[in-house]
Amino acid sequence: MKQNDSLRAIIWRDNALHLLDQRYLPHQQTYLELLQAKETADAIRDMVVRGAPAIGITAAYGVVLAARAAYAKNAGAWREEIQADMQYLAQSRPTAVNLFWALKRMEALFPSLEGDPEAALVAEAGRIHQEDIEANYQMGLLGEAYIPKDTAVITHCNAGALATGGYGTALGVIRSAFSADKLSQVYADETRPWLQGARLTAWELLQDGIPVTLLSDGAAASLLRTGTVSWAIVGSDRIAGNGDVANKIGTYGLAIAAKHHGVKFMVVAPTSTIDMSLSSGEQIPIENRSKDEVLSLNGQAVAAQDADAWNPAFDVTPAALVDVIVTEKGVVEHPTAEKMAALMAK
Ligand code: MRU
Repeated sequence: MKQNDSLRAIIWRDNALHLLDQRYLPHQQTYLELLQAKETADAIRDMVVRGAPAIGITAAYGVVLAARAAYAKNAGAWREEIQADMQYLAQSRPTAVNLFWALKRMEALFPSLEGDPEAALVAEAGRIHQEDIEANYQMGLLGEAYIPKDTAVITHCNAGALATGGYGTALGVIRSAFSADKLSQVYADETRPWLQGARLTAWELLQDGIPVTLLSDGAAASLLRTGTVSWAIVGSDRIAGNGDVANKIGTYGLAIAAKHHGVKFMVVAPTSTIDMSLSSGEQIPIENRSKDEVLSLNGQAVAAQDADAWNPAFDVTPAALVDVIVTEKGVVEHPTAEKMAALMAK
């Protein structure tokens, strides 16, 4: 394991899936043991596990659990039997394309499997998991090369070990820059309404001794105005073929503020997050979550009883606001459709 890399949110052990329940961080660190595909999909929907790569890896292990049940029920027709669970997994969350990418990759194995499919599917899910960690190490190195010495950075949401197989995408670059002694400070947006920044990113960085200062999302533009920060570094849930980037709601505003103040904007994501079937970010499905996430905090109402709310979980940052997209296959500066296609052809 690399330095500053102590966290694993997804563990396959003793024939079961173990997920660190991120709903209760930072106060409680408990792992849920899952044995069924349906409860795995529910865990994704309910944010036990979240973050695009982590959702994909979890879904891959969910396919293992689905295949186990389908084979036990009808060994001769498990491929038909599994379909309802495959669909249920696919419906868990709509924006992170890693979910559909992982399901497709698992399903591609089905025709070649003979007898009990479980061992082969566990091995494939394990490969998806391990490849994600390796991609994060690689992106850490590629992204860190852009960071000069004594740099303060800002990040939004949680694109860390908790959101991936391990090490993280945006936080992977931050971990690598910290190891290279280049980081003076990490600023983390609290990330309303679910507070991934406050509850997850600050906790995750502190676990590994990386200095972090929290700020409310509304304070980010003022921080950038001070000139303290020279890079904004974020992850992504889906990148369209023209380099438009879907990420946690508030990323778009951060990118606009960064452009206005001459702060560079880096997106770090594995190629499993790139959706070349979409020509622009406008086609990315944006999840709308419950109004309660905005209207209340920790189960306590914070708004007038009859107040309405709008709660899109993600927004789209146009490619024109992005200085560099970092993937495990290489980097794309000032992304365009042509450059994205060249990257994916590698
Ligand atoms: O709603 P979430 O917590 O799943 O949203 C997560 C994000 O927006 C992350 O920034 C993104 O998935 C990249 S994770 C490496």
